[in-house]
Amino acid sequence: MKGWTLEYEGFEPEDEGLREALTSTGNGYFCTRGAFAWAEAGSVHYPGTYMHGGYNRETTIMDGVPVLNEDLVNLPNWLLLELRIGGRNAIGTENVEFLEYKHELDVKEAVLKRRIRLRDAEGRITLLETRRFVSMANRHLGAIEWRITPENWSGEVQVISALDGRVTNRGVARYRDLEGRHLDPVSPRTFGPEIIGLLARTRQSRIYVGEAARTRVYRGRSILPVERELFQISDYIHQVLSFEVEEGTPVRIEKMVSFFTSHDHAITEPLTNAGQAARRFGTFAETFEAHTRAWDELWELCDISVPNDERVEFLYRLHAYHVLQVCSPHTTDIDAGVPARGLNGEAYRGHIFWDEMYVYPFLNYRFPRITRSLLMYRYRRLDEARALAKEAGYRGAMYPWQSGSSGEEETQVVHLNPNSGTWDPDHSHNQRHVSAAIFYNIWRYWEVSGDEEFLHEYGAEMMVEIARFWASIAHYNPARGRYEIHGVMGPDEFHEKYPDSDEEGLRNNAYTNVLVAWISKTVREMLDALPERRRRSVIARSGLTESEMDLWREMTTKMFVPFHETEEGEPVISQFEGYESLEDLDWDAYRKKYGNIQRLDRILKAEGDDPDRYKLAKQADTVLLFFIFSEKEIRSILEDLGYEYSHELVLRIIEYYDERTSHGSTLSFIAHAGVLAGIDPESSWKRYLVALESDVGDVQGGTTKEGIHLGVMAGTLDLIQRGYLGATVRGGTLYLDPRPVKALDGACLPMVVRGTRVEVSLKDEELTVAVKDDPGKTVRVATEEGERTLQAGESLTLGTPGAAAEAPREEAETQAEEESAPA
Ligand code: BGC
Repeated sequence: MKGWTLEYEGFEPEDEGLREALTSTGNGYFCTRGAFAWAEAGSVHYPGTYMHGGYNRETTIMDGVPVLNEDLVNLPNWLLLELRIGGRNAIGTENVEFLEYKHELDVKEAVLKRRIRLRDAEGRITLLETRRFVSMANRHLGAIEWRITPENWSGEVQVISALDGRVTNRGVARYRDLEGRHLDPVSPRTFGPEIIGLLARTRQSRIYVGEAARTRVYRGRSILPVERELFQISDYIHQVLSFEVEEGTPVRIEKMVSFFTSHDHAITEPLTNAGQAARRFGTFAETFEAHTRAWDELWELCDISVPNDERVEFLYRLHAYHVLQVCSPHTTDIDAGVPARGLNGEAYRGHIFWDEMYVYPFLNYRFPRITRSLLMYRYRRLDEARALAKEAGYRGAMYPWQSGSSGEEETQVVHLNPNSGTWDPDHSHNQRHVSAAIFYNIWRYWEVSGDEEFLHEYGAEMMVEIARFWASIAHYNPARGRYEIHGVMGPDEFHEKYPDSDEEGLRNNAYTNVLVAWISKTVREMLDALPERRRRSVIARSGLTESEMDLWREMTTKMFVPFHETEEGEPVISQFEGYESLEDLDWDAYRKKYGNIQRLDRILKAEGDDPDRYKLAKQADTVLLFFIFSEKEIRSILEDLGYEYSHELVLRIIEYYDERTSHGSTLSFIAHAGVLAGIDPESSWKRYLVALESDVGDVQGGTTKEGIHLGVMAGTLDLIQRGYLGATVRGGTLYLDPRPVKALDGACLPMVVRGTRVEVSLKDEELTVAVKDDPGKTVRVATEEGERTLQAGESLTLGTPGAAAEAPREEAETQAEEESAPA
């Protein structure tokens, strides 16, 4: 691993799945796993191509019960290229010897490369150098280049170039009992001698996908005349290109592939447009140049330099690369949300959860336009959220925990526990906090971007409907004189209900209730901030009444937040009402028995026990409040509610839950690192490194190959800017409150504040913000000392509390290992 490159030496079948996910290539419109071009899906390889919104529903009959699932469909494989030497079988990992094998991803140029020297059964040595990219310049283009050099032989070669629509969804072992066939063939066809095309259709959602591939062979700059032979069936097409090669003289194969779907704008029909595009594409080199120029522009705003720690610098870049291959400028005019596992694996079926809460902060400070379009995914599904609320007996809009094509609830009703092999009921749809996250995200987006048009036209309506939902799910408890919410789950999925209770959900999840108090206040603030005409329009459109406004006013001061006392008799916020009556878990015994206990839920259930019984959490729940709100904000929320607030209370809560959290979701490390940044920088940095290493090191033992964890990757980017450099925008002003760590000394990060580019850097215990933009551009900056406006070319430097020494890396690595799950 160097500055910009993720490198793997040697072919390791058991690591191939992980490498494929980590080296996927995408452009915010479609993404393809880094599987080798000749690989077919099996136990080692899993070629997969996915696009935003490419969902399909299928029903599986399980024990006589129909189970419906919506999946992000694995689309026809456009990668296939095979090589036959001297009329023999196509070369594959099983029939040649690798003399050299290198697989690398250059993140800067967003290109996947392999260098393979192989010897076949006849002793022929061939050097194969490949490059692949999915264009950031032309969203419809994916390209592969093969450079073949026969080292000690001359003779006939055949290259098979195919488009394969026979693929299914079988990338996640846990889902293999469920229907994985999502595509129906439509037709193959050719466009002149060089281009093959394939049209497929998703079976239920009827999305048409057209792919066309133009394959050429070059020697130097000239196109080599080749013989072409065609084979096609309804869901597969290939061309065999035959030609002669000479010892020591390389030839180049270029497979230029276009990808269109019936969701695209400005097309007549996907395959027709795909064929036309494939004919028009320039060479690999020409299109690659345009692609790297497009990435250069993105890196202008997304790169970081961390001279003190090359690995942090590289992993930051790798994570930014992954965020951008899912959420890019190409995402802005399509109907795309933020799939939790990106677009390079099938885990969680490509569904959209609340993870966007961790993704937007990075985008808001660089490409607010992208956040805006992703928020529109939610706006387009507002009616569905209204329907969901209504069906559940509530008012307003209740967004689903898992969302896909139409915004219906896609959470499965049963979930396979791989530890026991049993299908357990899944109650996680009760995580109503997803609606609070959407409200929160809209408000934060508006605060950072100042996009009034979005707020007026779309955001305000969603916020009102969400606030209305919370007001209707909450009820007044006269005995307490407070509002309560029952039957919900917090982000901690280990607690779905009370032990031995038949009723789903919990009473008064603190995270939810505190957010609801904030929502009840913020919705009024938002309405007050709207210009009169807009306010009237929002009120009229949503039929908002004075009594609803009064209710929100009351909820701001009367939401119930449960507290209990620690063994020392000091108060902490209870994760939910009754938490204190749960049993203590013998953490040491479980650690000793199982080593890794991140997924305590599966362990306990496999033992016939029930995680609901214990004081434990999968991930930060109560602690999360101190991550998403500043101390000032949380103080004001709790004080408005009439609860006592103190810094000691915060410290106690963090410590209390830290001891009772297994971090079964790596999102948890982000939240804990974030809250500890200002309290215990050393421990914070340790968690930061765990989160940073989690996908590349696959710390959850086999989950990354099923798709990277986008929220965690983006969270590590946000932590640098907001957590350690302490740069946050509120109301258009850049607030600086650095909490530096030594590893970040010398770090320099670009950000965009309301359209003006700034650089925030840390050096020798000083933080500098410099305006690096055109003359006339300014930024308002606030520090402890006060506020001032910086002009383009100006900078401001402030002292920091002193960089804390970070934990030695070995310690962090040990922690990652301790937390890591068994494969
Ligand atoms: C976490 C959720 C998250 C989901 C998708 C789960 O393991 O508990 O909070 O939304 O993964 O990333």
